[in-house]
This record gives sequence, C-alpha cells and structure tokens, in this order.
Amino acid sequence: MTELAIIVLAAGKGTRMKSALPKVMHRVAGRSLLGHVLHVAKDLAAARVVVISGPEMPEIEAEALSIVPQSVTAIQEERKGTGHAVSMAREALAGFGGKILVLYGDVPLLQASTAARLVANPAPLSVLGFRPLSPTGYGRLLQDTGGRVFAIREELDASPEERKINLCNSGIIAMDAVLLWKLIPKLRDDNAKKELYFTDLVGLTIAESLAVGLEECPEAEVAGVNDRAQLAGIEAELQKNYRLAHMTNGATLTAPETVFFSADTKIGQDVVIGPNVVFGPGVSVGDNVEIHSFSHIEGATIAAGARIGPYARLRPGAEIGEDAHIGNFVEIKKAVIGKGAKANHLSYIGDAKVGAWSNIGAGTITCNYDGYGKHVTEIGAGVFVGSNTALVAPVKVGDGANIAAGSVITRDVPADALAITRAEQQVKEGWAAKYRELKKARKAARAKGRG
Ligand code: UD1
Ligand code: MG
Repeated sequence: MTELAIIVLAAGKGTRMKSALPKVMHRVAGRSLLGHVLHVAKDLAAARVVVISGPEMPEIEAEALSIVPQSVTAIQEERKGTGHAVSMAREALAGFGGKILVLYGDVPLLQASTAARLVANPAPLSVLGFRPLSPTGYGRLLQDTGGRVFAIREELDASPEERKINLCNSGIIAMDAVLLWKLIPKLRDDNAKKELYFTDLVGLTIAESLAVGLEECPEAEVAGVNDRAQLAGIEAELQKNYRLAHMTNGATLTAPETVFFSADTKIGQDVVIGPNVVFGPGVSVGDNVEIHSFSHIEGATIAAGARIGPYARLRPGAEIGEDAHIGNFVEIKKAVIGKGAKANHLSYIGDAKVGAWSNIGAGTITCNYDGYGKHVTEIGAGVFVGSNTALVAPVKVGDGANIAAGSVITRDVPADALAITRAEQQVKEGWAAKYRELKKARKAARAKGRG
C-alpha cells in the first residue's frame, strides 16, 4: 500500500465565530473540530500529518501534538488561499513520495471510510464531490460528456451556466505527492479572489494528460463550521450518529434525543441509559450497567453491573467497581469505589478509596480540601459509614469498621472498630408535655387580654 500523508488546513481565523479561540479549537461532542479531523488521520494510520495553522495560534499545535504525537504544525503567515496553505506543508513533507490527502480543520463530520475511499481511488488526483441542497458558494465540478472531472470552478469565477451545476467540491482532495509538488508552483492568483486556489490543480493535472478521479459523499459529511449556529448543527448531527451507534451496539436509550455522548464514550452491552444523561469526555461503561436519568458523567470508568443515578455526578478519576451503586445527589471525584460498594444518597466522595461491599451512608462527606491542598481518605472493605459522617482527610478507616452516624472522623479508625464522635444524648422525661401546656396557657392569656 502506498504511504499516506495528511495535510489539515486550519489557518482560518474564523471571524464569524466571534471568539478569542481559533475556530478549529471549538468543541463538538467533547472534542475540538481539529480533534475530530485528526482522529480521521489516526484511523487512516497516516504516516505523516501536517497541520497548517495561522500565526499566533499556539493552541493548534498543542492540540495536534496531543492527538497525533508525530504531527508537524506549519504556520501560514499570510492567508493567500487554499493552494498557498497546502504549499506550507512542503518542507515538512520533504522526501515523502506517497499520497497526500488534504482535509479541512473545520469539517469534522467526515467519515474515515469516505476518506479511505478517496485515497484508494487510483487516479493521481481525486476529488471528493457532493450534491448539496443549495450549491451556492461552493466550487463546481466541471465534467466532460464522459462524466470525467476536468476542472473545479469557484462560485465567483463561474459563468451563470456553470453555477447551475449541482455537483460541488467538498475541498477534500487526495493526490500523488510528486505530482502535487510539481504542480503547486504553477498556481496563479488570476481569479476573482486573487488567491492561489488549490482547486486549480485539477485543471493542471488534466493539462498533464493525467486522470482525475471522483468520489461522492452525502452533504452532511462535508458540512463546515463558520459560525456558532453551524457549530450547534454539527453537534446535533454528531449526537444523532452516536445515539444510533450505541443503540446498534446493544445499549438501550429510553429517550435517545435527551442523551448526549462524547466522541470517545465507550458503552458496553446491555447498558440501559435513562433520559437526560450527559457523557463528557473520557467515559467508559462496562456491560449491564444502569444509568438512571439526570446523571452527569465525565472522565469516569464504570465496571459491569454498576447502577448509577438518578442525579449522580461522576467527575474525572471516578472508578466505579462492579455492581457498585451510586445513587441520587452523589458526587464522586478521583475515587475508586470497590466492587459492590454503595453510596446511595447525598454524598461527596473525592480523593478517596472505598473498599468492596462498604456502605456509605446518606450525607457522608470526604473533607478532602483544607484550603491549600487535597488529602486522601482510605476506607477499607466491608465498612459501614453512618449517615452524615464527615471524614476529615488524610484519614484511614480499616476493614470492617463501623462509624456511627453524625461522626466527624479526624483520626484513623482500626479494622473492626466502632468510631463515634457525638455529644451524649440527654433525655428529660415528660419535658415536652409540660412545655406544651405552658405555651398553650400563655397564648390563651394573651388572647383574653386583647378581647
Ligand atoms: C473552498 C474550495 C471550494 C469548495 C469549498 C468547500 C478553494 C479555492 N475552494 O472554498 O471549491 O467548494 O472550499 O467548503 O479551495 N484556508 C487556509 N488558508 C488559506 C485559505 C483557506 O488555511 O489561505 C483553510 C480555511 O481555514 C478552511 C479551508 O482552508 O478550513 C477552506 O477555505 P475557505 O476560505 O473556506 O474556502 P472556500 O472559499 O469556502
Ligand atoms: Mg469555506
């Protein structure tokens, strides 16, 4: 197989986003637009990846390196068109003789399978075309009577006849590297935008008596993002896809349209997800897990058979063991909850370990923060923590210990011990009845005085 290099065009400022953040750094489904495109590069196992960034966009290089560590970022100082942008990758791709695929950083819905189809087209240059509902604004693919593409005409340079053509250029092009670097210097800016159009390489390839290939894809796959309304549109499209994919893979979604996934959410088989559940990035859910409504989960691992929610919040570093129960208004952060352990109501468990089969009573709080640093709470296996316990970290509770409700635990509790920190209860027999009589008598006297 010929080697593949991918160039991602991401130099656009994205003025219409009205944002301090580069356009491609905006997120959909918990992942940046650029991240979605770079995952296509990963799926295709591209040997080289070059991201073309604008000046003063350090976030882009950092993001690219975090997703594709061997990627190289080249800066396009001046925005002189897509052809000029592609030429910025020349140095980074020196010596590369395989196929080059050009992707747009603001087109995140492209499927890796579609990109692979374009790359597999045997022509030295292949374009990815689509037939939009409205072709206005796009470059048109001009075909000869045999259906062969011989040129791409930009909207502004097109004749009224050419503008009637519905087959449009997605901008995504695959091309032999040697041909690309041979033709790039021939680009001229004698067009309506006074730019170097990458699309002109189609005409130049034909002029070399070489073939131009065509693959088509649905319009939705090549939708771009220019403003925040389009960003929301892309989010909706992605969510629709993820919901369907998770259901296809064996998850039950009671009200799919109310569940939000991240691009990297992993869901096992026979998982049941109730209405209004949100998955942030970095979540992995095992088989037979139940996630009840209004739960918010991010950066968490949930093992098989666990029961989460309703109204649970799992934050980064939450590791929920097999068959564990995390109930309503329970927040877990950076904590390992052992097999079969239960925290069913109104708790905060942070920077902690809870052993297998332990029971965390309602209102239990790990006091993990002293205003300066975070401290760890370690709870052993088979521990019973009574309701409304405050565990002041750092603190350890041994296996099988029992903590009386309402305790404030500041010192380690040995295994199998009882810890209780509670003011002693006093009982005054008959006190309430006497008090009631006294109050009633006073109220009656006051009423008489007024009447
Ligand atoms: C381009 C295509 C057009 C196609 C359309 C699909 C050309 C000449 N035209 O038009 O045929 O139908 O996309 O959406 O290629 N970019 C840079 N540096 C530049 C210019 C652009 O990095 O100097 C990046 C942009 O950030 C964007 C992409 O390239 O991600 C496309 O640029 P854009 O200006 O949107 O091109 P269009 O005019 O829409
Ligand atoms: Mg555009």
